Amino acid sequence: MQPGSRIILPLDLPTVDQACNAVSTLGDNVGVYKVGFELLYSAGIRALDELRSSGADRIFLDAKLHDIPNTVAAAMRAITRLHVWCVTVHASGGKAMLEAAREAAEQEANLHQITRPKLFAVTVLTSISDTVLNNELLVEGTAKTHAVHLAMLAASAGCDGVIASPHEARAIRNAVPQPDFLIVTPGVRPANALHGDQARVMTPAEAVAAGSDYLVVGRPILGADDPVAAAQAIAAEMVTGCHSHS
Ligand code: C5P
Repeated sequence: MQPGSRIILPLDLPTVDQACNAVSTLGDNVGVYKVGFELLYSAGIRALDELRSSGADRIFLDAKLHDIPNTVAAAMRAITRLHVWCVTVHASGGKAMLEAAREAAEQEANLHQITRPKLFAVTVLTSISDTVLNNELLVEGTAKTHAVHLAMLAASAGCDGVIASPHEARAIRNAVPQPDFLIVTPGVRPANALHGDQARVMTPAEAVAAGSDYLVVGRPILGADDPVAAAQAIAAEMVTGCHSHS
């Protein structure tokens, strides 16, 4: 396994050409390439084929599905045929929606004899503070307790993992009974890197030690003078966290 295989690079770039250049430059120094709204809505779903031609073998489709179960199931069937490595749904869509997503992906994959995408549930967006959660969404407790609750819901509905803040990773790891449940964490910054708009960050070593399996790291790699060296340094930092974890 490549050292960087647990790094997810968000292709937060406006054009497919820029995204393909990033893929060509980084190759397998990162494990997964994340495609989000910006690229999808500007370049369309065909961007995935172009990214693959540039060398992106594992694609993370950040679809953030959140709708009635029937609609999400239909979307999941179409997404399964795109051969992506994983897709995201909002855990707050509820158990029936999450189960429908998993079931639809499984059925479609069986039908076409292909691998179904992993299903990752978004817990509480890190932009949602405790105050917003309590006063606007009328959800009691803290963002952290709610994220743990949603992670348990996602696990019980058959999701393969969650997207959560590294600050919630330890609590989620302790609460979810399935040991192979995957925790994907954005908000990671190498020691000495600029934080940008990420307020509550952890270093790669800290995030791995807290229980994260995959780290989403964008600007510290894409904005570096030498992106390959930056990705390799992050991978090396992750190894340190693995050792302190074991
Ligand atoms: O550049 P940076 O490392 O901050 O990129 C983080 C990526 O993770 C972005 O694509 C961002 O949208 C995503 N993300 C996040 N926080 C969340 C969920 C997703 O930063 N809670």
